[in-house]
Amino acid sequence: MSEHVRILIPEEQIEARITEIADQISEEYRGRSLHLICILKGGAMFMCELAKRIHDTDVTMDFMSVSSYGSGTTSSGIVKIVKDLDEPLEGKNVMIVEDIIDTGHTLNHLSRILRERKPNSIEICTLLNKPSRREKEVPVRYSCFEIPDEFVVGYGLDYDQHYRNLPYIGVVEFDDPQEKQ
Ligand code: IMP
Ligand code: MG
Repeated sequence: MSEHVRILIPEEQIEARITEIADQISEEYRGRSLHLICILKGGAMFMCELAKRIHDTDVTMDFMSVSSYGSGTTSSGIVKIVKDLDEPLEGKNVMIVEDIIDTGHTLNHLSRILRERKPNSIEICTLLNKPSRREKEVPVRYSCFEIPDEFVVGYGLDYDQHYRNLPYIGVVEFDDPQEKQ
């Protein structure tokens, strides 16, 4: 491969931060139920690590898949539901669990669609946030890390479907800059 991955956030730091966020969520949802919605595939590793650290809360989970990017690294602004949720949202305390918020197009669009399903509440929890790239407003309730405008992989995030399994967040560096799509 003519690219390599430089570690940006090591595993221990990610896990410590997820524990912190999970404690905060447990505190805020104590005695209530919480319906986690994983945005596949990128949100999968984060959601597992988050869910197992939430305590004293009745947690349910559902999964959906949307497409917003092609195989390159730039946003198309087009959001399509590829796999919808199995369960209705009516009356539930919903939390959307996402890998990264970049331009905000995906979550801006998705949260509007999900709000129409009449949840009791809806919040957004993201592993990574790139505020400098925002084009559409997104109300982020929980964010583990704010990162600079660099294309990252690992901990669920991919470059052309690769690197999702890395236990850390890294920056893809292209040996030949012309290869970046
Ligand atoms: P947005 O619609 O621009 O906010 O893009 C959100 C989606 O783009 C995320 O759920 C990711 O799937 C993908 N994405 C954005 N930035 C990155 C990145 O740095 N690495 C990998 N995927 C990314
Ligand atoms: Mg995603």
